[in-house]
Formats: sequence, C-alpha cells, structure tokens
Amino acid sequence: MHSIVIFASGKGSNANAIIQYFKRSGQAKVALIVSNKADAAVLDIARNEHIPFLIVDKQSIKETLLIDQLTECKPSLIVLAGFLWKIPDSLLHTFPGKIINIHPALLPLHGGKGMYGHHVHNAVLTGKEKESGITVHYVNEKYDDGNIILQARCTVQPNDTSDTLAGRIHALEHYYYPRTIEFLLTQ
Ligand code: GAR
Repeated sequence: MHSIVIFASGKGSNANAIIQYFKRSGQAKVALIVSNKADAAVLDIARNEHIPFLIVDKQSIKETLLIDQLTECKPSLIVLAGFLWKIPDSLLHTFPGKIINIHPALLPLHGGKGMYGHHVHNAVLTGKEKESGITVHYVNEKYDDGNIILQARCTVQPNDTSDTLAGRIHALEHYYYPRTIEFLLTQ
C-alpha cells in the first residue's frame, strides 16, 4: 500500500477529502500529517482519524530530524494541502519529484508569496475574471512555480463573493486532488 504524507496549515478540508478517498479505495494511507500551526483544525482531523501528526517551526522544518521522520514513512508522495510555508531545499532534494501542491487558481495567474485562500479569490474578483479554477503542480524552490500536473476550471458568477467562489473552488479541489494523487500513484 502507498504511503502519503500531508502538509497542511489550516482547516484541512482537502486533507480530509484525501483521507476519506483513500480509506474507501484502500490503495494508499495517510501515514503522517505535518502542520506549522499547533491549533490548526487539520490536527483535529488527524486526531479523529488516528493519524500521527507533527508540528514544525521555521527551524525544525529544515532539520534532519524531520527528514528522518518523513523517510521513515516511505512516502510515495508528499502532498501540500493548504500549507503556506515554502518547502526547504533539503526536503526538495530528499524527495525529488514527490512533492505536490494544490493552488486555488489557474497558475501562472495569481500565484506567488502571499497568494493563498481569499487573497487569491479577491484578486480574481477584482480583475473581473470570467473563470477561475485549481492547479495541481510539482513543488520546486519557488512559490507556485513547478510543472503543472492538472488544472480544472469553473465559472466566476457576476454576483460572486470571495466566499462563494471559494466554495466552488473547494468543490473542485475535493474532487480532483485525491484523483490526481491516485493517478500519480499508478504511474
Ligand atoms: C485550499 O483552497 C488550497 O488550494 C489553498 O488553501 C486552501 C486550504 O483549504 N492553498 C493555497 O492557497 C496555497 N497557495 P483547506 O485547509 O480547507 O484544505
């Protein structure tokens, strides 16, 4: 069975979608959740699902102890699901081609440092764009810059708020992220 590690900073709805999807398929299991926030709701999901978790800070995320703990999980993929820190080079070098991210816009639009969650949706609304979507991509040393694996689109409605657009984007993410992971696991 494949092992997946999830990095997440927030609510964890994507983490939950991935956990539930692979509980059903039996093809992979989420072996570890890593967060930079001790009070992140994603950790409640980890506790409820009996998934081990780790909390990292700016220093420990770069240290060999974390690399050792990740290596022990033998991850087929490390999946960023709303993780807001840059991944240090040490992790990129240890797990080449194995770290992926989801971004709530059609990259290269609306990516980069500080572009996450509602900042992204507000930029789409301010730009009066007619569509938005999601991007799953490999992680490299720059924010939101690695090779794109999948994009899916949705319409932006004239009366959309950041919240209604976020809801549509989350629905796309919850559908496509587990399936994209499944696709990568079978390559
Ligand atoms: C998701 O929409 C994800 O695309 C976004 O954070 C949200 C996390 O939601 N990530 C970024 O903006 C990264 N730049 P969740 O905690 O409910 O999964």
